[in-house]
Amino acid sequence: MTNSYEIIEHKYDIVVVGAGGAGLRATFGMAAKGLKTACLTKVFPTRSHTVAAQGGMSAALGNMGPDDWRWHMYDTIKGSDWLGDQDAIEYMCREAIPAVIELEHQGVPFSRTEAGKIYQRPFGGMTTNYGEGTAQRTCAAADRTGHAILHTLYQQSLKHEAEFFIEYFALDLIMDNGICRGVMAINMEDGIIHRFRAHQVVLATGGFGRAYFSATSAHTCTGDGNGMVLRAGLPLQDMEFTQFHPTGIYGSGCLITEGVRGEGGYLTNSEGERFMERYAPSAKDLASRDVVSRSMTMEIREGRGVGEHKDHIHLHLEHLGPEVIHERLPGIAESARIFAGVDVTKEPIPVIPTVHYNMGGIPTNYQGQVVQLKDGNPDAVVEGLMAIGEAACVSVHGANRLGSNSLLDLIVFGRAAANFCSATITPNSTHKSLSNGGDEAVDRLDKLRYNKGSTPTAKIRDNMQRTMQSDAAVFRTGESLKEGIDKMSDVWDSFKDVKIDDKGLVWNTDLIETLELSNLLSSAVVSIHSAYNRPESRGAHAREDYPDRNDEVWMKHTLSSLSEDGKVSFEYRPVHMYTLTDEVDVFPPKKRVY
Ligand code: FUM
Repeated sequence: MTNSYEIIEHKYDIVVVGAGGAGLRATFGMAAKGLKTACLTKVFPTRSHTVAAQGGMSAALGNMGPDDWRWHMYDTIKGSDWLGDQDAIEYMCREAIPAVIELEHQGVPFSRTEAGKIYQRPFGGMTTNYGEGTAQRTCAAADRTGHAILHTLYQQSLKHEAEFFIEYFALDLIMDNGICRGVMAINMEDGIIHRFRAHQVVLATGGFGRAYFSATSAHTCTGDGNGMVLRAGLPLQDMEFTQFHPTGIYGSGCLITEGVRGEGGYLTNSEGERFMERYAPSAKDLASRDVVSRSMTMEIREGRGVGEHKDHIHLHLEHLGPEVIHERLPGIAESARIFAGVDVTKEPIPVIPTVHYNMGGIPTNYQGQVVQLKDGNPDAVVEGLMAIGEAACVSVHGANRLGSNSLLDLIVFGRAAANFCSATITPNSTHKSLSNGGDEAVDRLDKLRYNKGSTPTAKIRDNMQRTMQSDAAVFRTGESLKEGIDKMSDVWDSFKDVKIDDKGLVWNTDLIETLELSNLLSSAVVSIHSAYNRPESRGAHAREDYPDRNDEVWMKHTLSSLSEDGKVSFEYRPVHMYTLTDEVDVFPPKKRVY
């Protein structure tokens, strides 16, 4: 039985959960349109993980040479290994241009060219003329672009009087007959429960990188939106696709931006060889991330890794010179010094492919509305629920995201969600009465708090992270995945025995970490099952037992649902092989050539 909890009720037009780039872009866009908007966030907004984004945001501005949003669209579809929805990709690449100019006007301090235009650097997989040349498409504020964007968006949100509920942890969605009516949350400071009623709940809760042992993601990236969606009985999409960033610092996992290679940095093996010339003769070190991560892994496996254990690779930027490094890459020079003890003007950085991004997540259309497969309709909208940013699977990244398309995704779809809400919601309109007031969320919290278990949260989390790291890695086989599924099933069961020492409600980090672990576990279980279920190699999902892409059978999105006892079931949605406008044609699948 639920112990007594004080519950405070709020009514808003919209509640955004999460204050990273997507959440803040949506929040201020909605507030600016006169909608009563609340943003709940478990960390102070400018500490959200977007602050760590380094290299930049793609947009075909053409400031540094010829460019066209159609080329950007083609690159993104090719990068997605033909799993991306082409209508959504068209929307993103076209809207990238006004979205970045708006950011500039809102105050983002982008780096500049001699002529005073926004500086753009090349990133992996970005080409001109449908694959012919190299595009300089990534708009950068040195190597602290996420930091610059996040601070600007928070300032804009305050200016437009959005209301913030900071250090509030979202517990569960309030679902009423399949319609989302709000969200339950706990104020971490005092433990008081809050019921937020809203006409739309927008999940902008980020990815679940921390399901792995080594990740560039912040410790707060725990798939909280995924967990809430699965508990609401809704599926997630394409959860098998996990991106490994080629250059995480060996040991700490801290990100070294792809912008380093964009500025001319390169990788070498123990023989001093620039091995990417062998794997991707044309794109070399700027091949897409899945290709570079796999090539690095092959070098290490074949004994050509560097260091005492021959288990990592060297990234060189010494030749760029202190001036370029100081002007364009100051942040990574500092990270390399702190986390690897390396002076990048003199020596290479030890790097290794590190979990970086989840292509999968909550399925949505290009306006940010959550969709599901219902009564034969693969695009049936879940009323009252939206998702944006890394939490969502629009799907613009398909099986593999191109570098600098993430900041873009956050901004374009945060903006799209704001536009959609302002077009469909009348400010301050009345809320329907609720038949479900979120009691289940409170019950769940209470049960966890008083669970009579004996296993510490940290132990279960460690078991999960090590299993995902070893069995759902850059290269996977049916065997490794099956082994991982069995281990994850034990980890799932062990959660029943979780022990929370702190029974209080005031700043109970033990309780919050356990709630986060529950969300991570749900995401991880669904992810490893989905990986086993897809017997082909596509994008970041490299099955050694099925090395080829199988378009005939598997050019489709996986929808995965999770039962209370940890069982995963699958359905499928077709890839959108159509465009939104007649300004561009569909790009049919092509063989992979790097
Ligand atoms: O390498 C980077 O700067 C990361 C960018 C991204 O993931 O988009």
